[in-house]
Amino acid sequence: PGASASGASTDPAPAARAASPPPPLPRFPAGFLWGVSTSAHQIEGAADTREPSVWDAFTAGPGHVKDGTTAAVACDHYHRHGEDVALLRGLGVNAYRFSVSWPRVNSPGGLDFYDRLVDEVCAAGVRPVPTLFHWDLPLSVEEAGGWRARETAERFAQYVARVAGRLGDRVPTWLTLNEPAEHTLLGHALGVHAPGHRLLFEALPVAHHQLLAHGLAVRALRAAGARDVGIANSHGPTWAASEEPADVEAAGFYDLLLNRLFADPLLLGRYPDGLGELMPGTEAEVEADLKVIAEPLDRYGINYYAPTRVGAPQGSAIEFGGVSMPAELPFSVRPVEGRPVTDFGWPVVPEGLTELLTAFRDRYGERLPPVTITENGCAYEGLDDRERIAYLDGHLRALHAAMEAGVDVRGYFVWSLLDNFEWAEGYARRFGLVHVDFATLERTPKASYHWLREALRAQRG
Ligand code: NOJ
Repeated sequence: PGASASGASTDPAPAARAASPPPPLPRFPAGFLWGVSTSAHQIEGAADTREPSVWDAFTAGPGHVKDGTTAAVACDHYHRHGEDVALLRGLGVNAYRFSVSWPRVNSPGGLDFYDRLVDEVCAAGVRPVPTLFHWDLPLSVEEAGGWRARETAERFAQYVARVAGRLGDRVPTWLTLNEPAEHTLLGHALGVHAPGHRLLFEALPVAHHQLLAHGLAVRALRAAGARDVGIANSHGPTWAASEEPADVEAAGFYDLLLNRLFADPLLLGRYPDGLGELMPGTEAEVEADLKVIAEPLDRYGINYYAPTRVGAPQGSAIEFGGVSMPAELPFSVRPVEGRPVTDFGWPVVPEGLTELLTAFRDRYGERLPPVTITENGCAYEGLDDRERIAYLDGHLRALHAAMEAGVDVRGYFVWSLLDNFEWAEGYARRFGLVHVDFATLERTPKASYHWLREALRAQRG
């Protein structure tokens, strides 16, 4: 269940199918990056050793996190990084995507921590792939206007230059921002993530300033000698709820926000249809910024989880995938029917990844740099996580199918190495290949960890 159909006509009984391991994966090219992803705020803990971030302030507010938890301790990775690097080594990945916490870098000893981590990751034979912003803006920067203010883009580039100056001799591959679309939508338009602004369409400057920050960061990284620079954006196919014009139009608009608002300026140097006028500054200023935003990239990171079914607004707020969608939005999100769902309620649609990648290649052509899947994964309970194995197996086959169809894909990272702090959901959603007991902080590899280790061994063999 959950795996894409493999064309088996002699389908065994469901029980037997669940018990037998999936057949070997197709072969991926030599040099392919096989990795796992994490982020600082979700795993590090040790909040008392760094400046506060917007997430510390947000989680302190009542009702913001469903189970009332915070990431003050999280996986305590800050103190247990040695154990976690050993888990990476044991898994046999050749890359590790983590994020550098800007509030930690602002604090005494902060850069020393990442310096040691990078050394340990390299010593394990694993390529460090840091993301420079994964949603934990320093609270002091938020108080100076956060992503609503243009200066934040400049401050970000200064911070990036410091990090690159310290780690650049050992870090070959950099990612600037993580999912600016989600950070804009959830954090600034809907207010369900930090910093909790509910600006609806007034949040568009937040998108522009993050894009500008990205472009300035690319320049800072290049100035420090970086040769492999990318970004991690969330994308997924948008499916219209029906062929009714109102549904098709609503789905087209949602698609614009998720799949083009960030990708078009990055890859084509322009905003899609009319959105440029809504960005801060005069037309000439926005044009000048777009030159910075469209700095050539070496790698385009895509975080893929599921497609979204979208229809015309339904006239009242609805709860969807843990997010309350206000009635004022010009679209409404509907369930994808006839598919298994993860514990998060997200549908399992591996072939959505093939559809997404081929559509991206068709839309951007030569302008699309080699793609890396910077996140893919699912929330399920339990150590015997066969559903996760089926999910990852299905998505890797779908990825391979996209490559066969000519999409240049250079890597795949599972979200996540560890169960961790899943933002507004708290600790209730377990995405890890490794189980974390949040009372004792004990780590226990799940069935999916063992499965991936064997799959990677077979790729090497
Ligand atoms: C996207 C985000 O980058 C990551 O922080 C989050 O935990 C996963 N998706 C799962 O929701």
